[in-house]
Amino acid sequence: SEAEMAYAESLFALTPDFPEPGVLFRDISPMLADPKALRTTAEALIHPFSGQFDIIAGIEARGFVLAGVMAGVCGSGVLPVRKAGKLPDPAGYVEYALEYGTAAIEAPGVLKPGQRVLLVDDVLATGGTLAASRTLVQQLGAEVAGAAVVLELEGLGGREVAGEVHALFNA
Ligand code: PRP
Ligand code: MG
Repeated sequence: SEAEMAYAESLFALTPDFPEPGVLFRDISPMLADPKALRTTAEALIHPFSGQFDIIAGIEARGFVLAGVMAGVCGSGVLPVRKAGKLPDPAGYVEYALEYGTAAIEAPGVLKPGQRVLLVDDVLATGGTLAASRTLVQQLGAEVAGAAVVLELEGLGGREVAGEVHALFNA
């Protein structure tokens, strides 16, 4: 319900001037710690994609938590999308640009060909992480069923880079 969503949103922790002056940092940790808000959030992330995906890919780090809870709610499995260099035998590797330098993600080879993957992360900012995750899923021979985030930071052009994204809240 609207009231449940407003309650979940009220639990974001706001920290001014982090990680740099002028930035209002939003952390979902208090929302994760609240049983009602956590369930509301997981259900809302799944809702538009119900019946349209086979597995949920959580993007390191907070996407892991969200994907796990969502999978528990809807009875799917989870694919961890890892920061590069953590897996002994990654099945895919995608580099992407950060403001300064590059980052890379990897995933284990557990997807079946044509499996429909729902991507989830906590925040959409510039969209680079989500765009790379889409590429990674395609590299693994699976299909992207959709992408969902808790919070979209508007004005960074993330949507143009990441493609269609279901965002629960905007800031
Ligand atoms: C943050 C956030 C998203 C990503 C969004 O993660 O959790 O994953 O940035 O940014 P983008 O849309 O500009 O790509 P971060 O890479 O800081 O690492 P973490 O999740 O491990 O804390
Ligand atoms: Mg992240």
